[in-house]
Amino acid sequence: MKEYTYEQWQDILSQETEKYNTFCARGLKLDMSRGKPSSEQLDISEGLLTVVASNADCYSANGTDCRNYGLLYGIPEIRTLFAELLGVRSEQILAAGNSSLNLMYDTIVRAMLFGVPGGKCPWGKYEKIRFLCPVPGYDRHFSICENMGIEMINIDMGPYGPDMDTVERLCASDDTIKGIWCVPKYSNPEGKTYSDDTVRRLARMKAAKDFRIFWDNAYALHDLKTPGDCLLNLLEEAEQAGNPDRVYMFASTSKISFPGAGVAVIAASTTNLEDIGKSYTYQTIGPDKLNQLRHVRYFKNADGIRAHMKKHAEHLQPRFEAVLDTLNNQLLPLDIAEWTEPKGGYFISLNVCDGCAKRTVELMKNAGVIITPAGATFPYGKDPRDRNIRIAPTYPPLEELKLCCELLCICVKIATAEKFLNR
Ligand SMILES: Cc1ncc(COP(=O)(O)O)c(C=O)c1O
Repeated sequence: MKEYTYEQWQDILSQETEKYNTFCARGLKLDMSRGKPSSEQLDISEGLLTVVASNADCYSANGTDCRNYGLLYGIPEIRTLFAELLGVRSEQILAAGNSSLNLMYDTIVRAMLFGVPGGKCPWGKYEKIRFLCPVPGYDRHFSICENMGIEMINIDMGPYGPDMDTVERLCASDDTIKGIWCVPKYSNPEGKTYSDDTVRRLARMKAAKDFRIFWDNAYALHDLKTPGDCLLNLLEEAEQAGNPDRVYMFASTSKISFPGAGVAVIAASTTNLEDIGKSYTYQTIGPDKLNQLRHVRYFKNADGIRAHMKKHAEHLQPRFEAVLDTLNNQLLPLDIAEWTEPKGGYFISLNVCDGCAKRTVELMKNAGVIITPAGATFPYGKDPRDRNIRIAPTYPPLEELKLCCELLCICVKIATAEKFLNR
């Protein structure tokens, strides 16, 4: 970071405060906290609403009447579709309802109550269990742990994924560490993709027998640029390393079709999947197969989904560019913050100077703009350096987004000047 004199900080503060006051006078009421698609983006998948439209349409390829109960693991054609997309075998897929987060929560609850294959006892019987949490990360992963009383350990994210030296050291020496949360492609919020070496080390490392990698591949197909990032297949690597049961993979069409009405899957070894089935059979008599059928009929195959994702990319690119242009124009010359420029996913991660994130978010709020709370990207909502801010460019209309980013840059400058002026 550049050095500024006291007087220079004073100048920055007074100039930016003037601009800030003009923004405040506009009485804005905007929200850029939500990492969800806009209605316009949802319109891209309109055809899905009508693709299954009559009684005769309701049968899956194997003759199952999808209006009725049954097929606990989902219809064969959706399992095949996801298998191709995730690079696994179709018998390794359980296709469920609309939410992968729901599957993650259930997977943890099951492990707490009944344990997982290879474990001595249910996780809930241990006095204390721990999860590794690469940071910054996805707040809802962390809240599941908090909800279950699982202690969380921060692991710094580097350019190629979590700091693997620390992950390996901790997992090898502490068998109360039962899991790690990973968003391996276009991570939330940094948009980073794990390197091949990171994936292999996760597959091979020494860990408790009932240790599990929660591989939340929510953005597996969400390239913004071509070519997008490539991610090595963890299930395959874990099989080859002799740890086939170490992995639970999750994915969904939430940000491919509709977040409220998509299809979510879990992919795992046959042993894990059979183990899940033992209690899943008490939870439901079968998923929403009509919705699964709709998705297969609409997208047809993996290439159909890839082509559809290009439409999403075209829609999202101007939004990401608007944020990055503003950050580059407003903050780069001052050299007071860093941000990621992801090739895909849903977020941009901004690191301001230590101790300035909460104040920046507060200034935004006082000017009428809500952004993701500072700290949300860390376990317990506590960013030890108070510096990370998640920017979600997908939801607001483009003009609003530009306005919010202008304001964000002003607030970053004010918060930083205040810090150096000891205000
Ligand atoms: C990393 C990650 N995982 C999971 C989800 C939610 O997925 P689903 O809609 O399938 O529950 C999100 C939503 O933002 C996410 O960012």
